[in-house]
Amino acid sequence: MKVKNICCIGAGYVGGPTMAIIAQKAPGIKVTVVDINEKRIAAWNDADVKNIPIYEPGLAEVVAEARGRNLFFSTEVDKAIDEADMIFISVNTPTKTYGIGKGMAADLKFIELCARQIARFSTTDKIVVEKSTLPVRTAEALKSILDNTGNGVNFQILSNPEFLAEGTAVNDLQAPDRVLIGGDLDTEAGKEAINALVDVYAHWVPRTNILTTNVWSSELSKLTANAFLAQRVSSINALSELCEQTGADIKEVAKAIGMDSRIGPKFLQASVGFGGSCFQKDILNLVYISKSLGLTEVADYWEQVIIMNDHQKRRFAAKMVKTLYNTVSGKKIAMLGWAFKKDTNDTRESAAIYVADYLLNERAEVVVYDPKVSEEQILADLDYLNTRSAEENRANITVVNSALEATQGAHAVAIMTEWDAFKTLDWKQVYHNMLKPAFLFDGRRLLDRHELEALGFEFYAIGS
Ligand code: UDX
Ligand code: UDX
Ligand code: ADP
Repeated sequence: MKVKNICCIGAGYVGGPTMAIIAQKAPGIKVTVVDINEKRIAAWNDADVKNIPIYEPGLAEVVAEARGRNLFFSTEVDKAIDEADMIFISVNTPTKTYGIGKGMAADLKFIELCARQIARFSTTDKIVVEKSTLPVRTAEALKSILDNTGNGVNFQILSNPEFLAEGTAVNDLQAPDRVLIGGDLDTEAGKEAINALVDVYAHWVPRTNILTTNVWSSELSKLTANAFLAQRVSSINALSELCEQTGADIKEVAKAIGMDSRIGPKFLQASVGFGGSCFQKDILNLVYISKSLGLTEVADYWEQVIIMNDHQKRRFAAKMVKTLYNTVSGKKIAMLGWAFKKDTNDTRESAAIYVADYLLNERAEVVVYDPKVSEEQILADLDYLNTRSAEENRANITVVNSALEATQGAHAVAIMTEWDAFKTLDWKQVYHNMLKPAFLFDGRRLLDRHELEALGFEFYAIGS
């Protein structure tokens, strides 16, 4: 079977970029991305392609090329479902905030709603592809809903987890290390569905990089790949604290460790803590699944990665307070960066949120600047924590439009996100703007200690 018409439910960080690249690379396939969020769809359709809702280097160009040709964004979910022969589910699966598994398990209500919608509006056979990160065995639930509520049409379910990292999404999608497709390898219909999806990717991905497995391996690989990556960051962050106590330098240690080809250099960058929509959520999910299966030690082992990460965020904030003579009450602290890493406007689980929250508890006056994150988003992130009222948050945090403005009259500056622009900032001017001693806390090891100290800063970087 040859796929001619793809529908993707969910126009977010995963669905949007992934479908844009499929449309770009397979011009013969019509790709329709649908979302119930009208504002988001309107932004994807904005005449000025720079206004698309997701910032990723190179993405606007891809959208400009394919939009209106074979890439469409729409709110007509039901229509797109029935027209498609392949449907990707790319809706959000946040951590549950209520009930059983609260704070750990993935909330699958959006997935279930999608499944019921697909079942209701499908009048022809469909291949349904899980794109969102899902706990292992979700496909089983999907299948049960589809088969029991549908119009008697056949559904094949595939798992095709996305491994793209934000900030490098376009490149990751155009040249993926591998594409993983899980399906029912035991039946002819299952194999046919797998092959149909393989053919979509084969437009630009070498066949040797397309891996096919059973559904459960595919689902579990996604969770555990993220757990492995996060574990490396927590491991190097744990060593960064040890470095600070011993005179070793984490950069040198990471280099020495990473040159062992069995370990490799990637994901050994010490930081104020990992963030993003995946790492924490997926590990918590893994912990929850392990616990549910009675595997206490396995659960505790992976949970420690999160505990270490929480410690790293708290430790950074505590270091600031301690350095500022044990009080930041009424002091102006400039935070440069709010996104969870550079080159994205995504702030989910960003370390900056937790550091700001800590500083606000210490009654600091926090001023934030991020080149791509809006004031609305920053305030929403803080409100979501529920630590204090929305009014109190607004009384003590200010969002400004430039790094220089943020640092004006500040007691301390903290680098939270490794934006390139912060590297080339006029640090001499920043120093001049600040109260003295001018404290600078580099949560990303972005700046050169010798240069900054020569300008007069009291400089602290994670891990040395
Ligand atoms: C190790 C380091 O590899 C080496 O660089 C250092 O100088 C000394 O310590 P060694 O202990 O000789 O070397 O063996 P190694 O190959 O690293 O294996 C260590 C253990 O891990 C073995 O029991 C091995 O069976 C096990 N292992 C290794 C696995 O179980 N799985 C693997 O994928 C790799
Ligand atoms: C991650 C996975 O990399 C990707 O494969 C998966 O599909 C989704 O989750 P993403 O969350 O976009 O991607 O970002 P990633 O580059 O992995 O970084 C995650 C967090 O770890 C960021 O906060 C980043 O700053 C931090 N990090 C990463 C470090 O602190 N040090 C490192 O060495 C690497
Ligand atoms: P991700 O990082 O996984 O892409 P996002 O939150 O960025 O997560 O995107 C998920 C999108 O899915 C949101 O824009 C949301 O409105 C959309 N969505 C959730 N449920 C449905 C649904 N039943 N039908 C259509 N869109 C949905």
